[in-house]
Amino acid sequence: MKTTFIQKTILSFFLLFLVQVTAQNKSPRELILIDKDWRFSFGHLYDTKKDFGHAEGYFSYLTKTGFGDGPAASGFDDRAWRKLDLPHDWAVEQPFSESASFSHGFKAAGKNFPEKSIGWYRKKITIPNSDLGRVISLKFDGVFRNSKVFFNGFYLGTEESGYNGFEYDVSAYVNYGGENIISVRVDASMEEGWFYEGAGIYRHVYLQKTNPIYVVQNGTYVTSELVGNNAAVTADVKIKNNGKFKGSIEVIQTILDNKSKQVAVSSENIVAPEFYQTINYSSKLHVENPLLWDLDSPNLYQLITEIKSEGKVIDSYKTSFGIRTIEFNAEQGFFLNGKSIKLKGTNNHQDHAGIGTALPDEIQYYRIQKLKEMGSNAYRCSHHPPTPELLDACDKLGMLVIDETRLMGINEYHLKDLQRMMERDRNHPSIFCWSVGNEEWQIEGGIIGERIANIMQDFSKSIDPTRPVTIGISSGFKSGISSVVEVMGYNYLGNGDIDAHRNQFKQQPGMGTEEGSTFATRGIYFTDDAKHYQSAYDKKPRPTFYSIEEGWKFYSERPYLAGMFIWTGFDYRGEPTPYGWPSVTSYFGMMDVCGFPKDNVFYLKSWWGKEPVLHLLPHWNWSGMEGKEIDVWAYSNCDEVELFLNKKSLGKKKMTQNGHLEWKVNYVLGTLEAVGYKNGEKILSDIQKTTGKAENIKLSSDKENVLKGNISVVTIETTDKNNLHVPIANDEITFSIKGGKILGVGNGDPTSLESDKFIDDIALVAINNFKEQKSNSATLPEQLSNYSDNEWIDAFKDRDYKKQAPSYIYKGEFDLKNNSASNVVSFFYKKIGVQTVVFINGNKVEPSAEDPQKYILSSSILKEGKNTIHIAATPLQKIKDWDVMNTDPGIIQVITPAEPWKRKLFNGYAQIIIQKDENAKEVILSASAKGLRAGSLSLK
Ligand code: GAL
Repeated sequence: MKTTFIQKTILSFFLLFLVQVTAQNKSPRELILIDKDWRFSFGHLYDTKKDFGHAEGYFSYLTKTGFGDGPAASGFDDRAWRKLDLPHDWAVEQPFSESASFSHGFKAAGKNFPEKSIGWYRKKITIPNSDLGRVISLKFDGVFRNSKVFFNGFYLGTEESGYNGFEYDVSAYVNYGGENIISVRVDASMEEGWFYEGAGIYRHVYLQKTNPIYVVQNGTYVTSELVGNNAAVTADVKIKNNGKFKGSIEVIQTILDNKSKQVAVSSENIVAPEFYQTINYSSKLHVENPLLWDLDSPNLYQLITEIKSEGKVIDSYKTSFGIRTIEFNAEQGFFLNGKSIKLKGTNNHQDHAGIGTALPDEIQYYRIQKLKEMGSNAYRCSHHPPTPELLDACDKLGMLVIDETRLMGINEYHLKDLQRMMERDRNHPSIFCWSVGNEEWQIEGGIIGERIANIMQDFSKSIDPTRPVTIGISSGFKSGISSVVEVMGYNYLGNGDIDAHRNQFKQQPGMGTEEGSTFATRGIYFTDDAKHYQSAYDKKPRPTFYSIEEGWKFYSERPYLAGMFIWTGFDYRGEPTPYGWPSVTSYFGMMDVCGFPKDNVFYLKSWWGKEPVLHLLPHWNWSGMEGKEIDVWAYSNCDEVELFLNKKSLGKKKMTQNGHLEWKVNYVLGTLEAVGYKNGEKILSDIQKTTGKAENIKLSSDKENVLKGNISVVTIETTDKNNLHVPIANDEITFSIKGGKILGVGNGDPTSLESDKFIDDIALVAINNFKEQKSNSATLPEQLSNYSDNEWIDAFKDRDYKKQAPSYIYKGEFDLKNNSASNVVSFFYKKIGVQTVVFINGNKVEPSAEDPQKYILSSSILKEGKNTIHIAATPLQKIKDWDVMNTDPGIIQVITPAEPWKRKLFNGYAQIIIQKDENAKEVILSASAKGLRAGSLSLK
């Protein structure tokens, strides 16, 4: 049916109306998560050819704006690149190598691996015409590291920090009503820390759209003072005008409680800032009888900042905050809401088993929850600004935080990083202290350290005067930074005389910013240096370091010390002290990299937590050690504990405050039982029983610990014929999944060199030696002829585009490492002709159904080693003299499918992190192993 002119006119009016309605209905501010559907490929640190010719152009992106070349150019062909979703850490995907970095857990990426140190990311986004006039920006939460971002070929900037968020305004470069290309070149060749840091875009990325008059990123600052039962809240806001509007705007600030009920509001008309200027505006609001943010009831409020112009809301910005008071007292330690709180803290880096630093938000909650279950109430972000979602988890679950910047110094590099961290984070009620440095050995004991500390401290006060500043000190607690820092950060008892320091600086509060640094391997009870395993009994690790128990006793006995932060809560990749290769993760954690508890967790639960605890160690599977003496320990907060071996009492012992109990027991198989008494009454028991061999695979999910989303952490273990967990099992388990995908596997073994991830390998193979011969016919051949060998010349060399032949035959070569039938090999052709015929090793091939410029090459026509490609094509013609013609025939992509996901159990446990597909109703994870009854788990 033909549409008439009238029908067409009605239709276009209707469409115009629709566009206008949608434009009017747009929320004034949009923050769109753009983590999905990126393309990724490795580039190269110094070989520009392997870096896709980036920065080779006669005019570079620094010479002429918009001249991003290679993958930075809009038109770059990335079809052969890998598809992935963020967050992404390419380091964790690599194998381990002895020549890789000790600090970074021996993953074969980064500085010694130039072909695995540059990652390119590209993404297409559509921006509608109706967005014209808005401020369009890209917001990155964190990229490790040294990223350069391009938008439609325009260079936006370089961000060195691997930890701070950054933002670019792209409004001027947008192709409104069409497609736009984001390109990011990430250079992870340098390390910022001495611990695993990952590589790539490992935090969220957003596209943000606002009105030209808007609240700037991290532009609010909410503080409160408690006056009697009421809170006087000050809400500062920074407003910018990127447009030409002059006149008055109204700023409305509303506070909502945790049930979204309005509890306070203020509004005022002010003069809008001038073009490209920023103004600071502040409101005072009153909240009656506020629900305070506390460890057990982490109440949060929301500030909604609205800007109105001519009666219309043009921006709306949300700030989550809490109302609470904090105070350090040099005599009595730390107070939260006037209540004395001993800080029971842990230090942590940000990686997790299987997934490296690319943590789904749910894993932040999982980890903070695990620390809370251990009785911990404080977290030190050592030694860098964390992911925003970690702080959200601490706000929501009730965990105090020391937020730490990366590097000490007084220049823009250092102070701007500190400022960005503080402006991003200062509304989080969980943060009670800023840390501006850690163990800066070069300066900490001297005058330079003192000067830098003074400047950083005062600088931080200009951004947030409500929180104190600390620095972790290790080389003696006497001079330099120690004498000027607001809250003294003692790193380790063994590094100096804490009491002496305190006697000299009576006005200076203090806390143990690091303590412990003990070595333990989960489930190991005899140190075996040959195997790199450290027994899990809490022991003094090195002459000048102390056990967890010694550390806690020291801190708990001194009220003037606000508390201590154990090094560390979780094991992390890198720093496998006291060993090296082939150990790849630390031994310091109270929990392993998965979050499986080592026995120390139960010591802390006993003295940090509120619940009655009784935990007996070791396990009781010591076949071959019959008659030999075994150290048996009990962690408990009961008054007394009695130990029984096969029902026979081995004696009752009195527990001392912050202590543990020990017995020596000659091993016989059977049941070891501890009974705990309080006020003479039996209240608890714990059993270690000799088990039979592993027979069944058991899967269980930690879903109840996860607050939202599609992520689940699954524990894999084996049980014997009586369904008892087998603590020494190390079977290799193979996994398959339906309705979701596996993100990573781990088991907490510090010496495991097994893969964290099983993903298809994508290799890009260049076509080399590209030659041509002219053909006198415009009809393309169906078969190859015998072309005379000495007539081949370099393709496109000195081509006279005004006098091109009717057609050309091109010849090139590519090398295949193997020709396995399971590989998927594709040729992604880039147009070098109007009409084209492609031959591989003499066989004509047809384009694929999905993409006319993609050829899927069957292994029956391919071979290992050298392959030839011929392309017959009628030439492309120049329209303008200066047109730059494509001379690149394209690239060969070889996909080697991954092996099935698998992992060995380590001392009874492994962990697998799974993600449900968005549209799936359920995920089914199945696990099998030789000689064991398979298991499966369904999650809805
Ligand atoms: C500390 C340092 C930590 C970690 C730890 C290992 O000196 O601050 O980052 O390296 O030692 O023992």
